[in-house]
Amino acid sequence: SPECKLQLVRDHIRPYQDFPKKGILFRDICPILKDPAALTAVIDLFEEEVRRNYQTVELIVGLDARGFLFGPLLAQRLGVGFILVRKKGKLPGTTLSVEYNLEYGKAEVEIQEDAVAPGQKVLLIDDLLATGGTLFAACELMKKQQAEVLGCMVVIELKELNGKDKLKPQSIFSLVQY
Ligand code: PRP
Ligand code: ADE
Repeated sequence: SPECKLQLVRDHIRPYQDFPKKGILFRDICPILKDPAALTAVIDLFEEEVRRNYQTVELIVGLDARGFLFGPLLAQRLGVGFILVRKKGKLPGTTLSVEYNLEYGKAEVEIQEDAVAPGQKVLLIDDLLATGGTLFAACELMKKQQAEVLGCMVVIELKELNGKDKLKPQSIFSLVQY
């Protein structure tokens, strides 16, 4: 059942105090990937949400780096393509880029200029929503390409950082909230 799957996911998220900096409680998703049943539960729950609310999705957009762990599995399950939003300097060819702030640093994301066609319906996926800076920058990239963002999906949402507000009016779906 969905409740059992959610519990399985919750049980495979490991907290680390003061990583990568003092004051940050890091939520590690590595145990999910190590356990086939937990990983399947994540993809099942994402798939159910897409079938409920985003049936018209044409592309899954994964965020560097941990969005790459879940995005392709979901895309394959749905029978749609997967594209990459990467940290600066990793993608060949002509790219578009957007700068953003992290819970613990600053960065720039990039996409290949021909990754999405204007009007294409996309869903963004990452492991975790913190301040929302990363997903916001990815949404800006999608805007530059005139893609239609149907929503964003994450395994974990850190509620006290108010990422949802930053991303308004985008819809955000998360499996586990802290
Ligand atoms: C983490 C996480 C998200 C982002 C969330 O990635 O995987 O992508 O931070 O934070 P935000 O909502 O405040 O933007 P990180 O930038 O640490 O890089 P990594 O995936 O390469 O480890
Ligand atoms: N990315 C940003 N904040 C994070 C956190 N607290 N745990 C894991 N990944 C993160």
